[in-house]
Amino acid sequence: MEFMKTIAMRKSTRSYKSEQINDENLNTILTAGCAAPIGMGAYNAVHITVIQNPDMLARISKAIANLMGNPKANPLYSAPTLVIVSGKPNAKAPNIEIANASCIVENMTLAATNLNLGSVYVMGPVIVLNTDKELLKDLNLPEGFVPAAGLLLGHPTEALTKEEELKQTITLNTIK
Ligand SMILES: Cc1cc2nc3c(=O)[nH]c(=O)nc-3n(C[C@H](O)[C@H](O)[C@H](O)COP(=O)(O)O)c2cc1C
Repeated sequence: MEFMKTIAMRKSTRSYKSEQINDENLNTILTAGCAAPIGMGAYNAVHITVIQNPDMLARISKAIANLMGNPKANPLYSAPTLVIVSGKPNAKAPNIEIANASCIVENMTLAATNLNLGSVYVMGPVIVLNTDKELLKDLNLPEGFVPAAGLLLGHPTEALTKEEELKQTITLNTIK
């Protein structure tokens, strides 16, 4: 897919089919994530967890819904895959784990779009994993790592479409 078309087609998908994404596509998406820039080149300070276990997805979804005060909410939109990017905080570079995770997530979401798959950056799982020790334990993170960003992946119930024009609502100033 032409690169700017992929950029224009990426948008947050909030409705998924139950069908799982295949491993080949998942590996392509993860490869794109692993190629992201990382502060100080510290690739060993980043860890990726892929969650496709329905029970664990249901527990995370329920925890987010409860936190939102709306037990009937479906904050993971029934997506069959949740990727959690975790990082090792560094006192000399505050929040670098979140910046690193965001770069990885953006690479992955563009790779997913290029495969006509749906994706959405989600913070809910990060918030509950950082507050619920039982859930966090099941992530089996290496020592010292904390969840920093989440990405849902799956087949969208409605095919992705190309925006006619790229959105430009962010204020922009060029100083020449
Ligand atoms: C840091 C970050 C956190 C986000 N968290 C959530 C979330 O928890 N749930 C959700 O549905 N969308 C979440 N989003 C998606 C945004 O709402 C979405 O990207 C934005 O509204 C623009 O829409 P678009 O992605 O369709 O272009 C998040 C996006 C970013 C960058």
